[in-house]
Amino acid sequence: MHVASVVINRESFGSDPIVPLDESVHDIYGNTTGTLLMRLRRSGVNDVGVIAEAMDDLRKRQMEEGIFAFDSFTRSGSDACSPMSASALEDPARECVIWSINHYLGLNRHPFVIQKAADAVHQFGTGCGTSAISGGMNMLHRQIEAKLSEWLGKDGVMLFPTGFTANMGVLAALCQPDDHVLIDDESHASIRDGVRLSRARKWIAFQHNSIADIERKLEASSRECRGQIFVVVESAYSMSGDICPLRDLVALKERYNFLLVVDEAHSFGLYGRNGRGLCYQEGVTAGVDFILSTFSKATASIGGFVATERRYVSYFQWSSNAYAFQACFSPADAAAILAAMDVMEREPEIISGLHEKNRYMRTLLVEAGFDLGTSQSPIIPVYVPVTHKLLKICFELFRAGVFSVPVAHPMVREHEGRIRFIVNARHTYEQIDKTVGLLRGLAQKYDLHADLRQLRAETDTA
Ligand SMILES: Cc1ncc(COP(=O)(O)O)c(C=O)c1O
Repeated sequence: MHVASVVINRESFGSDPIVPLDESVHDIYGNTTGTLLMRLRRSGVNDVGVIAEAMDDLRKRQMEEGIFAFDSFTRSGSDACSPMSASALEDPARECVIWSINHYLGLNRHPFVIQKAADAVHQFGTGCGTSAISGGMNMLHRQIEAKLSEWLGKDGVMLFPTGFTANMGVLAALCQPDDHVLIDDESHASIRDGVRLSRARKWIAFQHNSIADIERKLEASSRECRGQIFVVVESAYSMSGDICPLRDLVALKERYNFLLVVDEAHSFGLYGRNGRGLCYQEGVTAGVDFILSTFSKATASIGGFVATERRYVSYFQWSSNAYAFQACFSPADAAAILAAMDVMEREPEIISGLHEKNRYMRTLLVEAGFDLGTSQSPIIPVYVPVTHKLLKICFELFRAGVFSVPVAHPMVREHEGRIRFIVNARHTYEQIDKTVGLLRGLAQKYDLHADLRQLRAETDTA
């Protein structure tokens, strides 16, 4: 579960050697559409029509074979448990325990949050109609900014329509041609896209969560960089559930000159006083220059924010296209965020209950011999290194009323495929027991533990 980091220069883009396509692209059990896309590109196929057709064909055949629930949807909205439909199921709907929803605290079903969102529709209407700088903001947006500013001790807070565009818009505006941008090997697509869109010519990936590697790269950049150095991390990683060693990272600021950007998408609402996040919990908010997060996860709505120094707000208002040219999230979304933050303050037992369930599920899985990597947060990755087994196990789980999605190469490294279980405060202990029980049976059926042993042996000898 380990990779060497890579240095990526713009100039080296597109220089992959062309390799012949092998027969395995036709293997409907060994490929996701993502793997197929990567293989086609690597072999030099660039015609988007050809690629789309190949992917569509694979998707169709996988659905016919019933090995992947591409077209699944819930019939009553996101929750810990809901009836779900998919063409590969025999019956029109199946009651499923759902493990892929990021509303960690289950506040999308909290009566107070729902009431406030409904009230806002009556009072403020539905949409906002334009961006924040063109009059799209209302007093609810302002209240969110003020509350975050107080919670995080930053005098500059800006709201974006989504967490994705907060990351993308901030990084695209921040990074300049002579800057060096250090990003974690496991960075979210919104971080990668932001850096790519920026004017920076050099971005450098460091080994996932490795302070030693960050330090090596900071040392080199401190010698070579003619602009500003940025380090960008996630406080809790979305694919692995790993927690970033934030204190050690901030301590590096005593020796190196860099600006630190932290995405709290998977920790805001979950850690620190009333869910203020991991930067707050670790006592490092002052040392983090840009704290970003999304409202689509714990706060059960949509939108994103950056909290920083006031002067950067003035800068982003005119330099971040995602802010200036995108409409604000709706009044109902804003009211739901405010209500969710209220609930986080008034009912901290929801947060502690979530962590209790996370601990319980982890203990059961570890006792059953599953590999959970180095995860800690309520994202629990159950590693299934062989892609065709990963797809089959996921579909068998779905058939038995347990839904989650397979995460396969190239979304993660080869042989690091996994099923992600995102624990939600509304999951019951019975649902956890049922899920782990099914997983135990499937691990036996597919000889998963033998694969894990073999992979460990290969990694040890490599
Ligand atoms: C780490 C991370 N950052 C940002 C985002 C984007 O957030 P949103 O989906 O709310 O736009 C996500 C979403 O999955 C994420 O996992």
